[in-house]
Amino acid sequence: MPARYSKPVYGHDIPWWVYDLTIAAGCLFFAWAANFVTAWAVLPLLVLLYGSFFEPHLLKTTRYAVGTGERSLKIAFISDIHVGPYKGRAWVKRLVRETQVLAPDIILLGGDFLHESARDLRKLEPLKEFRAPLGVYAILGNHDEYKASKEAHAWFAASGIPLVENRSLRAKEGVSVAGADDDWYGETDLEAAFKGIPSDDLALVMLHNPDLAPHAAKLMKDRPGATIFFSGHAHGGQIRLPIIGAVPKLPHHLGREYDRGIFSFDDIPLVLGAGAGESGPRARLFCPPEIVSVTVRF
Ligand SMILES: [Fe+2]
Repeated sequence: MPARYSKPVYGHDIPWWVYDLTIAAGCLFFAWAANFVTAWAVLPLLVLLYGSFFEPHLLKTTRYAVGTGERSLKIAFISDIHVGPYKGRAWVKRLVRETQVLAPDIILLGGDFLHESARDLRKLEPLKEFRAPLGVYAILGNHDEYKASKEAHAWFAASGIPLVENRSLRAKEGVSVAGADDDWYGETDLEAAFKGIPSDDLALVMLHNPDLAPHAAKLMKDRPGATIFFSGHAHGGQIRLPIIGAVPKLPHHLGREYDRGIFSFDDIPLVLGAGAGESGPRARLFCPPEIVSVTVRF
């Protein structure tokens, strides 16, 4: 039976242009303060400009190594591209180009392709250029399901990139890919997602919202094959400060420490990506957009 595992942390989104007007007002204020008060006001102005217009265009690759078996598989994982007012087709093209340089065996796309509007789906066209020997697989995220569910499903059906929502597919002998439908606006069914996975297979499981990981781990912990979870959604907080970490409240119920990186639920690793785009404000600070590369030995 489909189940709701967690409640949305945010009830509604503030329009992107409100954030942009706030940034513009901040710039004007700090520029004014720099002129009339003190040169120290230049520093927040530079931070504001750097976070809003420079760091979101950096792109870093984060590498993890998991497992100790004899077989090896290189996985590229990208989530939270959020095409829309901040990120467009050129950014998606760059993501594809830089991912292909890593020569992954398989590519997983972890949801939140859109900022909000179904009109922006055409900006995802370069995703069709992904190539990997074991294929490319995707799930949708809460932003995709919120206002563009029908259109996003239709776009993926025509794209040749299979959605693994509440189901699994065998990528090759010994390797299965599974995924859950979004927990906030979709119909998550973890039992359905996992039921077709052969018990000895390496299971690569995409859960857009990491809130699903504790429940998913309970279902997967006793199988003989290895399992790895891949999540996005938190964006690493998007705006971070040294020592403090993520500045905004994270959009899940797991706690502040689950911002980005690799975690464990019932001994199953959860790779939590920082995302490749922005929602809410356009800014990123100490948390650049990310492609995740995971080498699994199983
Ligand atoms: Fe997101």
